[in-house]
Amino acid sequence: MTSSSSSSETRSSGTQQIDVSAIREFGEVLLTSPARLCFIVEERYENEVMPGAVVDVLRSCGHSVDVLRPNGTVTDLWELLPTDVARYDAFVLKTVSEGPGLSLLDAAAAAGVTTVNDYRAIRLARDKAVAAVRARAAGIPFPKTWFASKSTLLEQIPADAYPLVVKPNSGSAMRDVYRVDTPDELARLAIGGSLLVQPYLPNPGHDVKLYNTGDEVFATVKRSPLHPGADVVEEQIPVTPELRNLARAVGRVFGLDIYGIDVVETAEGWVVLDVNDFPSFGKVPQAAWRLARTVLRVTRRQAAAKAAAQASSPTVYRPVVTTVAEARP
Ligand SMILES: Nc1ncnc2c1ncn2[C@@H]1O[C@H](COP(=O)(O)OP(=O)(O)OP(=O)(O)O)[C@@H](O)[C@H]1O
Ligand SMILES: [Mg+2]
Repeated sequence: MTSSSSSSETRSSGTQQIDVSAIREFGEVLLTSPARLCFIVEERYENEVMPGAVVDVLRSCGHSVDVLRPNGTVTDLWELLPTDVARYDAFVLKTVSEGPGLSLLDAAAAAGVTTVNDYRAIRLARDKAVAAVRARAAGIPFPKTWFASKSTLLEQIPADAYPLVVKPNSGSAMRDVYRVDTPDELARLAIGGSLLVQPYLPNPGHDVKLYNTGDEVFATVKRSPLHPGADVVEEQIPVTPELRNLARAVGRVFGLDIYGIDVVETAEGWVVLDVNDFPSFGKVPQAAWRLARTVLRVTRRQAAAKAAAQASSPTVYRPVVTTVAEARP
């Protein structure tokens, strides 16, 4: 593949220490037969801990990991094919809203290569309108949600729905999330692009972020952008069975293996506000090791599923790949 990551290599070969306790805890899966993986790393994450730390762990355990940087390099799409010399067992993506990585992940999936998370699951979570309907259709507690292609349409929202929360449909990192108390305030709001609108759900003034590393659910208290002055201690908290079940239900409904959800506690119980594939897992202990193990588990699970599917319905159509030169008379 085009580019092996220089920054990841420095981290892995130069400074990484062998973490003996992690090897003891995660080694059973991580130290088995080597996998060949390709991480698609978007510009925004090139210097972040994630997903580079997962790459480092996998390499330190003997797996071959290439890093593809779609923002800095032309991608030869034929190199995504399982017939190419690279023959990746799986492609891994931590998505960024409207970034180029998802097209490449979809392309790899179109060639029949495993993706982590599953490319269809990422599509369900990435677009907030799609995620809202998916969650609601499956009975996950989620606020009533409207979609508007531009802010001038928002005056059509019924008056009894106020106060409202207005946010960009493709939003992330808490950008442009507004609480609007009156139609007059709404008229003064100028945000471009497609929007989502929900009734503001009264809550204690902080979020709980639930993270699923693929083997365990973790919970962290986080400040809400709608309550900037609230007295909040951002810390890891115990996961109750109710929160664990809610997080796992979202994973099943979306088909995600590695994900986080934002929830708030309301008078009617916990409500899901946001679903994020591959978040940054801040404050989750040994997150990189856990995620590395999940990447391998999912890769092997998918390989076994593909082998079983092939055994039960042998291929009747075998495409013949010809080059232009061969096709000429
Ligand atoms: N309907 C709502 N009622 C109350 N608070 C809300 C509501 N919608 C959003 N919020 C608050 O705004 C925050 C950001 O909303 P949301 O998670 O949908 O946007 P985001 O930009 O995707 O954020 P993230 O950085 O988590 O991706 C929530 O975590 C919550 O604190
Ligand atoms: Mg959010």
